[in-house]
Amino acid sequence: MSVYDLLKPALFTLPPETAHNATHRLLRTAQDTPIEDALRERYTVSNPRLMTEAFDCTFPNPVGVAAGFDKNAEVPRALGALGFGHVEVGGVTAERQPGNSRPRMFRLREDRALINRMGFNNEGADAVGDRLDREPHPDVPLGINIGKSKSTPLEEAADDYLYTYERVANAGDYFVVNVSSPNTPGLRELQNREALEEILGTLADAGASPLLVKLSPDLPKPAVEDALAVVDDLNLDGVVATNTTTERSSSLRSPERVERGGLSGKPIESTATDLVRFVAERTDVPVVGVGGVSDAKGAYEKIRAGASVVQLYTGLVYEGPSVAREINEGLIDLLERDGFGSVEEAVGADL
Ligand code: FNR
Repeated sequence: MSVYDLLKPALFTLPPETAHNATHRLLRTAQDTPIEDALRERYTVSNPRLMTEAFDCTFPNPVGVAAGFDKNAEVPRALGALGFGHVEVGGVTAERQPGNSRPRMFRLREDRALINRMGFNNEGADAVGDRLDREPHPDVPLGINIGKSKSTPLEEAADDYLYTYERVANAGDYFVVNVSSPNTPGLRELQNREALEEILGTLADAGASPLLVKLSPDLPKPAVEDALAVVDDLNLDGVVATNTTTERSSSLRSPERVERGGLSGKPIESTATDLVRFVAERTDVPVVGVGGVSDAKGAYEKIRAGASVVQLYTGLVYEGPSVAREINEGLIDLLERDGFGSVEEAVGADL
């Protein structure tokens, strides 16, 4: 039995955001202390087979933390110490924002899912940029997820993204333009071709590299194809698939399924994997696979469907701090079983 098995019932009696904040505080306390070293010792799986390269980053293993867990880039080193192979911090917006009113995060326990309508609560690009410049870089690649400030009109989105990019440019190993969160009014409309060209073109002109775009699982397939055309035209570096969904499958059982917001976790796993495959079949750029990953089997499916690396958020909530270690250990066994010498050899094996 792990420590988390003991802690989880207590954490799960707290409202989800309170539990999240408590976890975050613990990580902050551990970070940059000998406890961080002890965590690294306990949770890191070092094996050359797990190493992968994508968009100029060298990942010690393919399992990363998805955006939203560390919105203000406060605990990237502690998350690295939990054995994750990269950490994507943010979403950061140009303006400091309180986000939506609480409650705004819901546990769908029976479905191993979450619904959130946080609304990009974050300290803003100045504060997060200062923190990133001041504090040490984690020992794994650091991605920075950039969102749009709520008060900025859609027509001025490109400048808003640019402002944030310039504030965090020095610290990031890669940058993700998030136009797919369902919780900022109108944001997902920016996934059309012209808007993407403007926003991504502006950032690319400013030198943002490697530059990726994160897509919604709810985007109709022709719109995904349009987005991929922009990725190709602008020579972007990758695609993150996927964000949360506003769809509600009839199989959801938890009473909280009626809440508004983006659904994440197990119920979106196969949809996200399908989009990874769809994207990987149509582009040569690396794909970051995210949505419902919580075990080695699911991570491996995304990799075989074309993901160069995977990420998770909801899986961390349900499986606890050993989730990256368990996935990485399981991946080594699956690679061995199927005769792959490395994760890289397995990327896209099912295409
Ligand atoms: C998120 N996610 C998210 N994504 C993003 O691009 N920017 C963000 O700020 C956030 N914020 C956020 C907050 C919360 C509470 C959750 C649960 C999720 C989406 C996240 O990065 C991921 O794409 C989805 O959650 C799907 O992955 P999981 O959770 O099923 O592993």
